[in-house]
Amino acid sequence: MRFFVTGKGGVGKSTLSAALALYLSSRKSTLLISLDPTQSLSTIFKLPVSHRETMVRKNLFVKEMNPDYYSEKFRKSVFQRLKKLDLNVGFSIRDYVEAVLANPATREEILVEYILEELVRTDFGFLVFDMAPTASFFKTFSMIFALGNWIRFLKKQREKIAQLNRVVKKQKTDPILEDLESIYLNLKRLRDVLTDHRSSFFIVCNPGIVSAKETWNQIRFYREMNLPLKGIFFNKTMHEMSWWEFLRKAGVDFQPAEVESIPQITFPLLAEEPIGISRLQPLVDQLKKEMPL
Ligand SMILES: Nc1ncnc2c1ncn2[C@@H]1O[C@H](COP(=O)(O)OP(=O)(O)OP(=O)(O)O)[C@@H](O)[C@H]1O
Ligand SMILES: [Mg+2]
Repeated sequence: MRFFVTGKGGVGKSTLSAALALYLSSRKSTLLISLDPTQSLSTIFKLPVSHRETMVRKNLFVKEMNPDYYSEKFRKSVFQRLKKLDLNVGFSIRDYVEAVLANPATREEILVEYILEELVRTDFGFLVFDMAPTASFFKTFSMIFALGNWIRFLKKQREKIAQLNRVVKKQKTDPILEDLESIYLNLKRLRDVLTDHRSSFFIVCNPGIVSAKETWNQIRFYREMNLPLKGIFFNKTMHEMSWWEFLRKAGVDFQPAEVESIPQITFPLLAEEPIGISRLQPLVDQLKKEMPL
């Protein structure tokens, strides 16, 4: 099973991912992965978290997907791929790879390239993903879906050239088509994995109009992308209002059935910052009560 914890910046994604991972690890071995290396998990668990798995306690491991580490892996793999294709392009492949890496969208692409490796892991009973704040998360996930369609188009175009090469040059295989095929299959698999029954998405929301509106935007994005939303983590609460009552306050027009059908787990605003395993315990207890495994 994989759990994705998403939400706006600062709402408590890392804190609740850590509480969720602690809770799950009482059942099965659990790996908590941060897709946003901000040192939060290092602070929360009071240990240095890196791209290597670090043991927090029995059955619980943590790591972060450090962009620098993955950029390097990406650099090597693109370089190898382009070399293998043996293109006579008239410019340096190394310069081209560096130019690609300088593109701001590349960070998302790199994550997409490597996230699948983590998503399909079977050496842990549970995987928990502490996601990047909403804007960046939207970009990454939109890319998975949009890129799939674009590669499918390129594949079709290339198929025509490969067909010609088969007849004219007697070329049996086309390395570019094979490369496009493998990228396409990777994206398709990623999409299938994200939307299958083993994936569960949760949105963290704080009491307030801004956070409720952002949560609403995310819900609509999830629906569009067919991502399985399993609940709202309503964090830092001080009173009985639900998140969608804040949405109503904001004047958003919605049907009650659209929000009431989504389970909400409420977490209180703690007097002391939940840093360290013992201070996370009230949040873990809340999960135990509201989210039986
Ligand atoms: N229930 C809670 N009670 C009190 N403080 C909390 C609670 N949940 C989170 N916090 C505090 O809120 C702050 C933000 O939490 P956290 O770092 O988990 O948010 P985040 O969504 O991961 O942020 P970012 O978007 O920067 O990654 C931290 O100081 C954390 O200790
Ligand atoms: Mg965080």
